[in-house]
Amino acid sequence: MEVPRPYYRPRRLRASTLLRRMVREATLSKDDLVYPLFVVPGQGVRAEIESLPGCFHLSVDELVREAESVAELGIPAVLLFGLPERKDERGSEAYDPEGIIQRAVRALKAAEVPVVVICDVCLCEYTSHGHCGVVVEGQVDNDATLELLARIAVTAADAGADMVAPSDMMDGRVRAIREALDAGGHQQVPIMSYAAKYASAFYGPFREAAQCAPQFGDRAGYQMDPPNVREAVREVLLDLDEGADIVMVKPALAYMDVIRAVREATTAPLACYNVSGEYAMVKAAAARGWLDEQRVAMEILTGFKRAGADLILTYFAKDAVRWMGE
Ligand code: PBG
Repeated sequence: MEVPRPYYRPRRLRASTLLRRMVREATLSKDDLVYPLFVVPGQGVRAEIESLPGCFHLSVDELVREAESVAELGIPAVLLFGLPERKDERGSEAYDPEGIIQRAVRALKAAEVPVVVICDVCLCEYTSHGHCGVVVEGQVDNDATLELLARIAVTAADAGADMVAPSDMMDGRVRAIREALDAGGHQQVPIMSYAAKYASAFYGPFREAAQCAPQFGDRAGYQMDPPNVREAVREVLLDLDEGADIVMVKPALAYMDVIRAVREATTAPLACYNVSGEYAMVKAAAARGWLDEQRVAMEILTGFKRAGADLILTYFAKDAVRWMGE
C-alpha cells in the first residue's frame, strides 16, 4: 500500500540548531530582566534567605556591592524591598526620609551604580500587623492608606529612586501617587503598577524573606481573586487611566493567560513577576535532582515572553544572564 507522504513537513525547520534559531519566535534578553533585592539594617550583612536560596538579606553597604555585580552582568534594573528596624501600626519607617529604603537608594545613587532603581511601594513589610494598609476596626482602610503610599513614593523619589512600584492593591493608589510625585517635583519618575496582583499562595517564601505575613486574616479583601481574568484587564486599564507607565501581572507562572489577555488589551509596557514560590519550587526540585534547574528556569522565563510580557521580575535574573551566555 502506498503511504501518503506529508507535503508540509514542520520537521524541516527543526533539523539543526541554526535553523531552529532562525525561526525562533520569542527571545529572552537580559534587557527584559529586573532583579529583586532585600535591604536590612546593619553593616556587612549578607545572609542567605533560607526560603529563597541564592538570594540574600543585604545591609546598605552590601547592597551597593550586589547592585554593582547586577549592573556588571548587564541587568538594567533592581527592585528594592526593605526590612525596617521597627514595625508599627502605620508602618512609619516606610515613609521616613531616613528609612531603610531611602538610605539604600541614596547609597546606590552616591555610588553611581548604573542600574534603574525601582522601589516597591507597600506598607506590609513595615506594619506590625503585616497588612498592606492602615487597619481600622479590623479592616484595611483604603482611602486612609492612599496618603501613606503617596508619602512612601515621594520619599523614595526624593532619595533618588528612578521608578516606584506600588504593590498594595488599594483602589486609586496610582492616581494618588502620580499626583503626589508631580506635586513634589517628580514628574519624570515613572510608576510601574502591580495592576493585576492576585491573592496568591505563591508569595509564601517572600513573606518569610520580607517578614510580612499578615498577623490576622489574609489579603483577599484587596488582592485579586485567582479565578478572574476579565477583571485583570479592567484593573490594568484603570491603572493606565490613573497614570501608570508600566503595568504588571503577578504572579506569572499560573497566570500566563492573564499576561496574554493584558497584552492584547494594551500597548503599554507589560511586566510580570515570577514570584518567590515559582522560584522556590524550581530550586527545591532541582536540589533533589528531579529537574534540570537551568533548562526549566529558561523555559519558564521564555514562556513569559511568549505569553506577551516585555519585562520579567525574577530571582533568576543573575543566573539567567549567565545561562544566556552559555
Ligand atoms: C508586598 C509584596 C509581596 C510581594 C511583592 N510585594 C507580598 C504580598 O503581597 O504578600 C511578593 C513577591 C514574591 O512572592 O516574590 N505587598
